[in-house]
Amino acid sequence: MSTDKTNQSWGGRFSEPVDAFVARFTASVEFDKRLYRHDIMGSIAHATMLEKAGVLSRDERDQIIANLKDIQAEIEAGTFDWRVDLEDVHMNIEARLTDRIGIVGKKLHTGRSRNDQVATDIRLWLRDEIDQILGEITRLQQGLLGLAEAEAGTIMPGFTHLQTAQPVTFGHHLLAWFEMLSRDYERLVDCRKRTNRMPLGSAALAGTTYPIQREITCQLLGFEAISGNSLDGVSDRDFAIEFCAAASVAMMHLSRFSEELVLWTSAQFQFIDLPDRFCTGSSIMPQKKNPDVPELVRGKTGRVFGALTGLLALMKGQPLAYNKDNQEDKEPLFDAADTLRDSLRAFADMIPAIRPKREVMREAALRGFSTATDLADYLVRKGLPFRDCHEIVGHAVKYGVDSGKDLAEMSLDELRRFSDQIGDDVFAVLTLEGSVNARDHIGGTAPAQVRAAVERGRALLASR
Ligand code: ARG
Repeated sequence: MSTDKTNQSWGGRFSEPVDAFVARFTASVEFDKRLYRHDIMGSIAHATMLEKAGVLSRDERDQIIANLKDIQAEIEAGTFDWRVDLEDVHMNIEARLTDRIGIVGKKLHTGRSRNDQVATDIRLWLRDEIDQILGEITRLQQGLLGLAEAEAGTIMPGFTHLQTAQPVTFGHHLLAWFEMLSRDYERLVDCRKRTNRMPLGSAALAGTTYPIQREITCQLLGFEAISGNSLDGVSDRDFAIEFCAAASVAMMHLSRFSEELVLWTSAQFQFIDLPDRFCTGSSIMPQKKNPDVPELVRGKTGRVFGALTGLLALMKGQPLAYNKDNQEDKEPLFDAADTLRDSLRAFADMIPAIRPKREVMREAALRGFSTATDLADYLVRKGLPFRDCHEIVGHAVKYGVDSGKDLAEMSLDELRRFSDQIGDDVFAVLTLEGSVNARDHIGGTAPAQVRAAVERGRALLASR
């Protein structure tokens, strides 16, 4: 990136060049150059509209558009000379256009300002990012549905307080994550609506004296609506904050998901195996296989929360309309979008490759008195009040702890010591299968319900 020249864009007003350090300090081109495609898209739409409005001739419009396309090709070929002294992506591209076509290039900026230009660029950029992220969420959800279907009947302990609570099916557990991701998807779709509004035409802050036709640029750029107030149009960054809020919730979900994968791959749980390609070893301990991908996603969650609080702090107390502060919106926003997209991508690749260890899960569910609630429910069905049943089963569990037996391992005589209401039929409810099959309602853990939920999930994804 070269720094040798002096920015002439506002030369008329100034009697000395900008200090070299200040030029670097105030420049954003190092990070906002990634907006180049959307910047050019916005400029092409603007030039098209200016011709229709009678501000540019057809020939001028055509020269501008053809040369903007060539500039895009230069950028993509890596031959474009990005200049820090030209401050940002907008002025770099405009200066190059003027290099190429002289006075006609200088006409492009008629009736607009970098203030509405940058606000337009970020919205166009974020709209595309959201679409990619939505695609990754769907891909991850597809993976979850496939695994949930295969594991609809696999039994594992369900936890509260990370203590064994009741048996659940692994498929059911996987579908809890599916639900979270469905809400994340909805939040992003909703945020996209408010992102997809066009500030172009707000100009610097008050609108412009040229006979611009904002409906034309709006339609060309595929925006859903035109921003209704020019002061708000150039200074609103709510959409970026909203995106970071939705991204933070999604990352919070992924971090919980990550934590469970980390626990489950540990030697203490051993519920699942992750393929080697998602793990790394240790340079000193030969036995180690570390679940790096989930650990890193768990860690990266923090930077997305940081982007959200950073943007809120950036906007707090800013007077209308545009302030240079707003240039600081980009790095956190870019980082949040990159982090969420990459994390989802890693998960979408990894989830279908999970190898559940069904026997280990089952063994774990057999320990820890996971069917104690089922025994209490059984006694309720025999006519006892639930509180008394809770107490009776509590005694049985205490006996089990002392004698080293789970409930299903006790004889009928042993069980009857705690209640004479207990009969031969009790063993059906004390089995893991009896326990999960009994929770047979919408949202319950019974394998039949898991299969039904997978079907509903497939229909949801097909409707997107
Ligand atoms: N690079 C600037 C930004 O990102 C573009 C807008 C500059 N506008 C201005 N009036 N200095 O916010």
